[in-house]
Amino acid sequence: MRRGLFISLEGGEGCGKSTQASRLKSSIESAGYKVILTREPGGTWLGEQVRRLIKDQSDDIPCARAETLLFLAARAQLVEKVIRPALEEGVWVISDRFSDSTLAYQGYGRGLDLEELAKANDFACSSLKPDITFLLDAELEESVNRRLEREKKLNSSADRIELEGKEFHSRLREGFKELAAKEPARFTVIDANASIDEVQERIWTRLKPLV
Ligand code: TMP
Repeated sequence: MRRGLFISLEGGEGCGKSTQASRLKSSIESAGYKVILTREPGGTWLGEQVRRLIKDQSDDIPCARAETLLFLAARAQLVEKVIRPALEEGVWVISDRFSDSTLAYQGYGRGLDLEELAKANDFACSSLKPDITFLLDAELEESVNRRLEREKKLNSSADRIELEGKEFHSRLREGFKELAAKEPARFTVIDANASIDEVQERIWTRLKPLV
């Protein structure tokens, strides 16, 4: 049986990843493939607990290394229990964020060593990497507006990472772009300032030859 395709979507806050991930799932299903959509942190019981911890507004903020290890624990569990078994059964997997988020947020954003993080990522995923990664790149102002709109719609509030300053967010935006430049065969950078339909179309243009 042919192994499934592993696709990740990456980007800063409010870049529209989650909307695109669910639209992409529908397009792949319409093309006749089995596909699952998962997210990071999340997708397993452990991962959802990590998500809750990360989003929690506590005064006892995890240090950068502790924060990294939480994401890595969630990733290890997701790879072992969900992603790898699905791919082996020929099912496609879309992940809303994956290992590049750790390099961008904890590396470029928090300043941890990129090589150490890459090794830790490798350990957590037992070397699994996405086949294709879409980087949704949006202007910071656009991202903040989208995030505020989403919060209004869901009646929610920003979490600790979303509330980091402009410098943090521009560091991680540049970081994502650097990661994409280093692996042009895996990454497709999409201008996420465009409309939702246009972004969806651009993602599908890249994937169409593979379905
Ligand atoms: P989101 O997927 O709803 O954007 O929430 C996940 C948050 O966690 C987001 O702020 C990015 C952050 N994050 C990291 O800092 N490192 C990681 O490795 C992952 C997967 C997420």
